[in-house]
Amino acid sequence: MTSQPLDLLPDSSTSFLSPYLPPSRPSDRVFVTLTYAASLDSRIALGHGQRTQLSGSESKCMTHYLRAHHDGILVGVNTFLADNPGLNCRYSIAGKSPVEASPRPIIIDPTFRCKIESRSKSMMAAACMEGKEPWILVSAEWRNSVSPSDLVHIQSTERMGARVIPVVGLQSDNRNESWAAILKSLKELGIRSLMVEGGARVINDLLCTAVDDINGTKVSPIDVVIITIAPVYLGKNGVEVSPATALDNLYDITWDQFGRDCVMASFNKKLRATF
Ligand SMILES: NC(=O)c1ccc[n+]([C@@H]2O[C@H](COP(=O)([O-])OP(=O)(O)OC[C@H]3O[C@@H](n4cnc5c(N)ncnc54)[C@H](OP(=O)(O)O)[C@@H]3O)[C@@H](O)[C@H]2O)c1
Repeated sequence: MTSQPLDLLPDSSTSFLSPYLPPSRPSDRVFVTLTYAASLDSRIALGHGQRTQLSGSESKCMTHYLRAHHDGILVGVNTFLADNPGLNCRYSIAGKSPVEASPRPIIIDPTFRCKIESRSKSMMAAACMEGKEPWILVSAEWRNSVSPSDLVHIQSTERMGARVIPVVGLQSDNRNESWAAILKSLKELGIRSLMVEGGARVINDLLCTAVDDINGTKVSPIDVVIITIAPVYLGKNGVEVSPATALDNLYDITWDQFGRDCVMASFNKKLRATF
């Protein structure tokens, strides 16, 4: 697996994205960018388990450009199983190797269903020095009572260079607790900026999540939302992005065209504002 670098974005596109990139100054919390590609009917895949290419080549370059500016890239285990994503960065950044430019792949997988193997694209990318080895966030409760076969699987995964990281509170049914636990762990692991790419459960949950800020006020963990809209309909059987509640949180919104796709970039109000 030796991948060709993607085309460079024109200056107009990098200028469009630049206000929304994570700040370089240190912060007391993880900067979160929510980003995904959706159809005109807000579907992100044709059906569960069906890998669906929505972005055109130009918006794909944009996604890889964004990856180069984040420490971590996070997906849910169903996305890992459905898409076998590489989760690396194929956008050339001057002065950085592909490994340095790539974010750390992070998979939320409370009971370690992902069955990662050396043939998984993210592992192959790491083996070819084109990406980093994934971290798999499992529930600490699950990790404390694993079966012997799961233990063997954890050990073989870690021998390949990936890490299986127990997170206290991950398996909570309460999305606020679960996301607070995820972000706390990632901060402790040195992740300062996180790109959340999906799938639907992750996106829908995150949009409605509120976590404590340093003053104990409940705020959204999302800083920036960047969405690619592809000019297709995926139909009612598609995997839908639609949060449980109405939200009207975005501000400083701009749109740009990338090939046939439209990209919306915006900031997200930390305090929840619903209709
Ligand atoms: N178009 C795009 O940009 C895009 C991007 C990514 C994915 N996708 C598509 O999205 C689809 C998958 O979406 P999906 O909704 O089925 O699954 P998903 O969001 O990828 O993964 C959901 C699973 O991840 C775990 N999880 C997620 N959030 C969690 C939390 N806060 N706490 C604990 N566990 C959590 C749970 O695993 P357990 O069930 O084991 O508890 C949950 O069932 C795929 O078809 C993929 O192709 C599209």
